[in-house]
Amino acid sequence: MPFLTPGHPPRVFSSLSVQMHSQLLAAIPEQDLHRWHPNPAAESSLGDCPGPLNESLFPFSSGMINILHGLGLRFLALGHHTPFMHIGMAHNYRNVSQAIQAVRDCGYEISMGLMPKSIGPLTFCFTGTGNVSKGAQDIINELPVEYVEPHELKDVSETGDMTKVYATVLSRHHHLVRKSDGIYDPIEYEIHPELYTSHFRTSVAPYTTCLINGIYWDPHTPRLLRRLDAQMLMRPQKSSSAYNEGSPKLPHKLLAICDISADTGGSIEFMNECTTIDKPFCIYDADQHIDHDSVEGNGILMCSIDNLPAQLPIEATEYFGDRLFPYIWEMAVIASNGKLTPKFEYIEKLRERR
Ligand SMILES: NC(=O)c1ccc[n+]([C@@H]2O[C@H](COP(=O)([O-])OP(=O)(O)OC[C@H]3O[C@@H](n4cnc5c(N)ncnc54)[C@H](O)[C@@H]3O)[C@@H](O)[C@H]2O)c1
Repeated sequence: MPFLTPGHPPRVFSSLSVQMHSQLLAAIPEQDLHRWHPNPAAESSLGDCPGPLNESLFPFSSGMINILHGLGLRFLALGHHTPFMHIGMAHNYRNVSQAIQAVRDCGYEISMGLMPKSIGPLTFCFTGTGNVSKGAQDIINELPVEYVEPHELKDVSETGDMTKVYATVLSRHHHLVRKSDGIYDPIEYEIHPELYTSHFRTSVAPYTTCLINGIYWDPHTPRLLRRLDAQMLMRPQKSSSAYNEGSPKLPHKLLAICDISADTGGSIEFMNECTTIDKPFCIYDADQHIDHDSVEGNGILMCSIDNLPAQLPIEATEYFGDRLFPYIWEMAVIASNGKLTPKFEYIEKLRERR
């Protein structure tokens, strides 16, 4: 059954989870399994012997696991029970493969049409294409996801399929324009970012359910969202959506921000204070310009933990350890074979001076 193990070698599963996994599979009718991946081409390319997964970016995945958990809590606070309720915080899992199993189970329920109709199609926007963004995408790829271009987000957020979720990846050229003529010149932007502004707030954010911010932000560069934008984004949606049946309605489209970049007052201007692993979520009320220490009330759910790799300690230790290891000799070995190593030969001179 290739569908529930896309891209993952079997060694990532413990024997218990493999056993539970096969029991789960046995309970699912074959025709329903084929609904799992919305793209049959992708399904066949996954095959029975999945290719290598980009495991090295797992330390960057915990933010995405957290915000899926947060969405479950937020939807519940807004009156909806959703499959996201079955995903926990990243550190509640023994390792990332167990977290992935929970995300897959959630994805299975979404593909079976268990998302409440009045929520409408879910859209995720990933900013940046670096470690953080790719690590977060590794997790959403475990849901039945369809990637679209940023300009297609409006359309799918109104008329998309409720048995999958939609995602877009935002690079600089998608949202940055020169203030004077609306053109993006990447070379000039590197030197004079102050000449540029972002139209993210009007072109993408109003059609995004959950923003996962993974850009490297410099204070001279345009912000993605300012406080005024948050006020605008908290206004109720016009009901042009095909999904206006059922209740209760969502108060606005942008429900959650996972600010993995975690720059206070940075690309998300109203991220005032990082949240913590102990208290991962707050609600930003843009009208009052205050954070509520809760998942209830008016506003946008915010998650901005700044030590995310600590939530997946096994994967983080392997990742950072592997990268540090080549430098250990140079950094830490003071003497070898009875001699000082080159970097520490100065100690001999210090001794001579005594
Ligand atoms: N919260 C945490 O625990 C945690 C963990 C790791 C990294 N971070 C932070 O996340 C940020 C990203 O880290 P990374 O390792 O992915 O960096 P990276 O350099 O690998 O990726 C940064 C990406 O941002 C893109 N980018 C920059 N400005 C942009 C803009 N205006 N619009 C769109 N894309 C833009 C770049 O093109 C690049 O793809 C850093 O600020 C880092 O400190 C936080």
